[in-house]
Amino acid sequence: MNLLIRSWSTLFSIGLVVIVHADVDAERVVNANSEPENWLTHGRTYAEERESPLTQINKDNINQLGLAWYFDTNTQRGLEGSPLVIEGVIYSTTSWSRVYAHDAASGELLWQYDPLVPRAWGVNACCDVVNRGLAAWGESLYLGTLDGRLVALNRVDGRVRWETLTIDRSRPYTITGAPRAVNGKIIIGNGGAEYGVRGYVTAYDALTGAQAWRFYTVPGDPGKPYESDVMRMAAKTWTGDIYWKVGGGGTVWDSMAYDPEFNLLYIGVGNGSPWNRWVRSPDGGDNLFLSSIVALNPDTGAYVWHYQTTPSDTWDYTATQHILLADIEIRNKTRKVLMQAPKNGFFYVIDRETGELIAADKYVPVTWASQVNLETGRPMETGNADHSAESQNTAPAALGGHNWQPMAYNQASGLVYIPAIEAVQPYSTAQAFSFRGSSQWNLGQAEAAGKGGLRGVPSVLLESVFKKLLRGRLIAWDPGLQQERWRVDHTTMWNGGVLTTQSGLVFQGTGDRRLVAYDADSGELLWEVETGTGIVAPPISYAVNGEQYIAVLAGWGGVGGLSLPQSINANGTSRLLVYKLGGTGSHPTNLIELEMAEAPPATVASRESIDRGEVVYGEYCARCHGLAVGKGGVVSDLRYLDAATHEIFDEIVLGGVFSGVGMVSFADLLSENDVADVHNYLIAAAHQTWDEQNSADWWRTFLVWVSDVAAEFVVWVLSPSMS
Ligand code: HEC
Repeated sequence: MNLLIRSWSTLFSIGLVVIVHADVDAERVVNANSEPENWLTHGRTYAEERESPLTQINKDNINQLGLAWYFDTNTQRGLEGSPLVIEGVIYSTTSWSRVYAHDAASGELLWQYDPLVPRAWGVNACCDVVNRGLAAWGESLYLGTLDGRLVALNRVDGRVRWETLTIDRSRPYTITGAPRAVNGKIIIGNGGAEYGVRGYVTAYDALTGAQAWRFYTVPGDPGKPYESDVMRMAAKTWTGDIYWKVGGGGTVWDSMAYDPEFNLLYIGVGNGSPWNRWVRSPDGGDNLFLSSIVALNPDTGAYVWHYQTTPSDTWDYTATQHILLADIEIRNKTRKVLMQAPKNGFFYVIDRETGELIAADKYVPVTWASQVNLETGRPMETGNADHSAESQNTAPAALGGHNWQPMAYNQASGLVYIPAIEAVQPYSTAQAFSFRGSSQWNLGQAEAAGKGGLRGVPSVLLESVFKKLLRGRLIAWDPGLQQERWRVDHTTMWNGGVLTTQSGLVFQGTGDRRLVAYDADSGELLWEVETGTGIVAPPISYAVNGEQYIAVLAGWGGVGGLSLPQSINANGTSRLLVYKLGGTGSHPTNLIELEMAEAPPATVASRESIDRGEVVYGEYCARCHGLAVGKGGVVSDLRYLDAATHEIFDEIVLGGVFSGVGMVSFADLLSENDVADVHNYLIAAAHQTWDEQNSADWWRTFLVWVSDVAAEFVVWVLSPSMS
């Protein structure tokens, strides 16, 4: 059977067979490098290197790369998916967990599937209603939906084979990560630690959907029996009782990798619920397995080893970032390693058989720890780590060092390409903590965003400060020598994941709406194209009938797109873009520029009401509508409401009339007075924008210039000494 499949795919790759639906099985995924034309699993291979063996597109002809076809997804929300490509069909996922299958050469839509996620469930998603992709096994594709289902689809026509609920719907769990298929089982985690959940991963039988095993990442209610000895061991590292009431966190919301040689599945575990360790576990403790990489037996879910990157995490320094397996030369020895650049700012090289730490070095400025002790494997915290009494400005920020955007590893250059972030953030501790359910962050911090005081600050100044405080870059990291080889500074901090090819190219999309190719050895910019919307997803590469393609889901969003004011105030439709040599297509230009057509309503609100409204906005609205009413561009910018929407403001915010499009009622959290205050604040902010929009050109130029200088100063004051 396997031989047959192998010859089918060989025939196919040389273009003799047009439609073949050969099963995806263990042998095929293990040997994914012998099928360079396909992209069978999330990171292309189980090692998740995101390196395409295809070399048709190379440094000499890259200038001929052009658009082959594109597909508009009918949404403006974020796209974070890695498509799969199997036998000439490309399968992508978009916002609200929708799936599309296209003929990978022509772009013809073959089928689509919408799991009809209730839009109100979107309030449980901290970081946009995104989806990062599918798993393939047998003749099926597997999808995790935002509302917690695992769905098996027939790969040929998109029909549902089975579906199962993987979460407890009384808690704010979501799924945004891609499942992985290993040894006939489909493994899926979840998210929700910002709002209070207990993390776990579950394996289901690929054929029937029956649950095979579940591994909890944090201990539960100590009054109940432990699920396993591992949970008994983990419980010894926790104190107090807030953690299990809130959930403890530790969600496995993104990365996994698999090594068939050791039959080990590696999972990346996230942050705590709540974030703050002095609240979560008041008498100390490492809080296993928060911020850890855990190796499991994929057949039984049995624990094998773990390495905790941030013991007793308090900054949201998840270890859910991309896990990448490779054999690298380090200190004159070839080692079988696992690599990760988690949010905490250290690049880890770990022996993937034993979990032994080999190297951990700073890839961005880090203030919370001076170094990682290679003997003990533990970070050495600095005074900056303690914000139990006083607030601290700490680097990296909660967005990381490096977020979910996948890295890539190029075997020839020996470099790992990290879509990195340099950022600093104030952290503090809440004096009194109460668990408030899923409509509000439950971080255990004095909510910095909610303090207000930014009203009246010109938006150009805010943007300048954010731009300078939060910087994005692509770093080429040498994991053998533990040093940076080259870097590219981006104009935005939130950019795309990375693809590399064996022809020495590195592809990355950017927040400023470009897809770019760099020389893998030097970082030299070789090719770029304006794409019409910011990109956060990683590109992939595949071939059909001997022709190589580069594909990327372009759609501005995710946590950076939703909440942070960016320098760009316009984004277009989210779309799948596919390129090939000699492609002549042109990108549709339908940027949505925000422009205020009419003056905002007159306001007679008191200064106090507006100030209170700014605080309400920061605590309850900013995470979707943008900090300081920023220009996220993904969900409505509330300064630009039209007269009719102003009329029904209360019905929207308290009455929930827009819950069908994802805007739930806040009646259980906000009073009528709160809503009046937030409305007054928004009207005041709209007047400011109206005045800025209608001011003379020379004045705006002057403001931009002054803001730039002022921002330098603000950043200098806020930034701790970065080592
Ligand atoms: C979980 C994300 C989320 C949060 C939090 C949130 N909203 Fe929304 N809001 C949405 C979505 C989604 C829409 C509908 C789609 C759109 O407008 O882009 C929306 C629409 C609206 C609209 C209508 C906008 C228009 O142009 O039609 C108003 C008004 C609004 N929200 C006010 C608020 C206020 C006030 C708060 C805070 C109390 C808030 N929202 C918090 C997601 C959110």
